[in-house]
Amino acid sequence: MGQLFLFLTAFCIFAAIHSNEVNGKVIVTRTEVPTEEDGEPVLIIPLDELLKTYDVNATGVGKRQLDLIPLPAGTVIAYVIFATCEYISFWAMDITMKFKEGWLETRHYTDPNDIPGWSKISQNPWFSFSGVPTFTITLGPFDPCTKCHIDSKLQSIEGFQRLGNFTISTDCPCDPGSGQGDPHYVTFDKNHLEFNGPCSYVLTETCVASDFDLKVISTHGEVISRFVNNDVRRIESAKVTTGAHVLDLRDNGVIMLNGVLVTTSVLTQDALVGVQIVSNGTDIIFSASGKWWIEWSKNARNNRNRLFVGIHKDSDLIGKVCGMLGHKQPEDYVHIEGKLPYLLANGSFTDNAQELGHSWEVPGSCP
Ligand SMILES: *[C@@H]1O[C@H](CO)[C@@H](O)[C@H](O)[C@H]1NC(C)=O
Ligand SMILES: *[C@@H]1O[C@H](CO)[C@@H](O)[C@H](O)[C@H]1NC(C)=O
Ligand SMILES: *[C@@H]1O[C@H](CO)[C@@H](O)[C@H](O)[C@H]1NC(C)=O
Ligand SMILES: *[C@@H]1O[C@H](CO)[C@@H](O)[C@H](O)[C@H]1NC(C)=O
Repeated sequence: MGQLFLFLTAFCIFAAIHSNEVNGKVIVTRTEVPTEEDGEPVLIIPLDELLKTYDVNATGVGKRQLDLIPLPAGTVIAYVIFATCEYISFWAMDITMKFKEGWLETRHYTDPNDIPGWSKISQNPWFSFSGVPTFTITLGPFDPCTKCHIDSKLQSIEGFQRLGNFTISTDCPCDPGSGQGDPHYVTFDKNHLEFNGPCSYVLTETCVASDFDLKVISTHGEVISRFVNNDVRRIESAKVTTGAHVLDLRDNGVIMLNGVLVTTSVLTQDALVGVQIVSNGTDIIFSASGKWWIEWSKNARNNRNRLFVGIHKDSDLIGKVCGMLGHKQPEDYVHIEGKLPYLLANGSFTDNAQELGHSWEVPGSCP
């Protein structure tokens, strides 16, 4: 058994480092092979890797998945680490259950010559992944392209288990598509446009087969003030669908995940979607496996909702999405000189924002 764990641990670290080399956008590295605290080696593994190999429900209730290895008791800690342009989410799930009465200690820094003291993070009292102690933190805001180091360990009065040093960079380049204000949209290609239609519009959707389907729709509200401008609307709400999950993004940063109001950090059982509340009115939806994120917030200055859609350079969705925000092309994509800026639903291009918006209208969504 011991040898199996050592092998898997080495494999995971190799896999993590290997995937870094593939792209220059988001770097996640984890150094330090877990130490043997009390004789038994502990497997520390990214949650999506764990779910591909092990049946986390094997020892509990729920349906056994026969193609998966039963989860060994007492020896596994899973983690999720994810960065957007500004924020880093770091979650640990103590499947060993040894830190049920314990806490997470972390220290993070961008300057290795200035390492702060440890901070203690209690177990999330409202959310537990699959019934195990779950610790969730958000770091930031940072500037884009900031490399952050996170040193972490689980601790209880009986001892501790190091999770190791993680290094992750915020998105670099930081190039999400977005919609906010009147509504003012910026496509993935950084083309700006104003579009005031009264309906719902597909901002982005998977339109070439991918394991990670994603669809983001924004809904424009009523005309804000007929006295000031007869046209101006705002993004009233938005809807995100991915896999079997539906997220309703409502006013003031309120999010419903599969019909349930999100009040704390949550992660779906398939680990496909996480929601992290950054502050009152600002939430991040992220998919560590799909490698995309959405920030939903209220702009305090103009009191309008704001939506950012980020797709990491190493996401399977690169080159596979279409919508009002356009194609999300690979970094080395050569843009064709003189091509019109906006992508229509029929695949043609235009420079007319009205034509663009109407082309991505959701059928039956108009008042
Ligand atoms: C982890 O980081 C801390 C702080 O930078 C450092 O003291 C420690 O040696 C690192 N451990 C490893 C194994 O790199
Ligand atoms: C584990 O079992 C619970 C309860 O049956 C179920 O809701 C959940 O989806 C299962 N998790 C996984 C990862 O299969
Ligand atoms: C959160 O923000 C809303 C306005 O956006 C405000 O009404 C509410 O009081 C705030 N809640 C807290 C706990 O700050
Ligand atoms: C696509 O739609 C636009 C108008 O919505 C039209 O002008 C154009 O000819 C269409 N292109 C194709 C290839 O059908």
